[in-house]
Amino acid sequence: MINGIKPLDRSLRWGMVGGGGTSQIGYIHRSSAQRDGTFTLMAGAFDVDAERGKAFGRALGVDENRCYASYQALFAGEADREDGIEAVSIATPNNTHFEICRAALEAGLHVVCEKPLCFTSEEAQILADLCSINHKIIGVTYGYAGHQLIHQARAMIAEGLLGDIRIINMSFSHGFHNDAVELDNPSTKWRVDPKYVGPSYVLGDLATHPLFIAETMVPELSIKRLMCTRQSFVKSRAPLEDNAYVLMEYDNGAVGSMWCSAVNCGSMHGQKVRVIGSKASLEWWDEQPNQLRYEVQGEPVRIIERGMGYLTPRALEEDRIGGGHPEGLFEAWSNLYRRFAIAMDATDRADRALLENFWYPDVHAGLQGVRWVENCVRSAESGASWVEFR
Ligand code: NAI
Repeated sequence: MINGIKPLDRSLRWGMVGGGGTSQIGYIHRSSAQRDGTFTLMAGAFDVDAERGKAFGRALGVDENRCYASYQALFAGEADREDGIEAVSIATPNNTHFEICRAALEAGLHVVCEKPLCFTSEEAQILADLCSINHKIIGVTYGYAGHQLIHQARAMIAEGLLGDIRIINMSFSHGFHNDAVELDNPSTKWRVDPKYVGPSYVLGDLATHPLFIAETMVPELSIKRLMCTRQSFVKSRAPLEDNAYVLMEYDNGAVGSMWCSAVNCGSMHGQKVRVIGSKASLEWWDEQPNQLRYEVQGEPVRIIERGMGYLTPRALEEDRIGGGHPEGLFEAWSNLYRRFAIAMDATDRADRALLENFWYPDVHAGLQGVRWVENCVRSAESGASWVEFR
């Protein structure tokens, strides 16, 4: 249980790039990083508009000398200080992730980066190599994966309660962009422009979330080949897709499917992961994250509730209030940030024993998401043909 006791004897000096006052995702980064006293916000380059970013930083209570005009100025300025930042979070549009991550690692910082980590697997590999060389980590904010019942599912699957895993159905299909809302919405505008998002829209923006949740629940599965068909129902978005289907074959004979969409009218998030085995199935839905459906063939459905004594120790480890009280996305993100801090501290101390079995979405999880999108785009561009996963 998490009850406010600090997991570390220090708070990491922390900065942000992006996540400014008008951003969608900046606040949940700040709220989650600071929830458990593991990070203290000391500096930032919060906005693409330097003056607006500085004003926002001051309004957050950051020392005005540490509100910088750009990420380059942030890393250089902080390197010159004895109390300079040790870690930075990157919450900017996708086209900037690679260069800012690389600069941060080269400046000797640990990194938390938004998904998708970058555009190509070559770039992601460069970042992974830099992490190894510089003894730093990148945590990737696959925020939903911090929900406790995903780890309950992982434990139940590992215990064999589902039998042999046969099918994984995944979806993240909302309806918010069924029209060209990007014409008046800056946060959507860059999401449908290849200059900012690279080769895909919903595959990278949405599907990488349930993909990582499924990888967390069933870590031993590895994709052998896949096929993808993608559409631009709002024509001005072409060549980027606002809807896609992906079929996957895993190397143990299991199969999987992904439906990702921004034009699923009426749907809020529609993010579900259903794992089907030879005896039973488990299903998790991000709109009801405190419940996990456990369906044994021939028996009534069981609803497993978050925070209850019957859960596995791992699923209870990050319980903050007990069962019945709903926890949400902010708690899931806080669980991730807590883990990022523990992993950063352990990396600084070269505590290999801790790191060996310590779960968090790391640079390899980021690389896998980028690689998956690349394979999907390759399949879609070759007429939705099956491609070997590489
Ligand atoms: P947004 O467009 O709402 O905000 C972007 C922010 O970054 C703005 O404050 C902007 O001024 C700032 N910015 C842009 N370029 C910058 C630069 N070079 N230096 C400093 N600041 C800069 O975008 P949103 O929706 O907040 O998305 C940001 C990132 O977060 C994206 O990579 C997106 O995929 C990811 N995201 C992740 C979610 C998750 O669940 N993990 C959910 C929503 C977004």
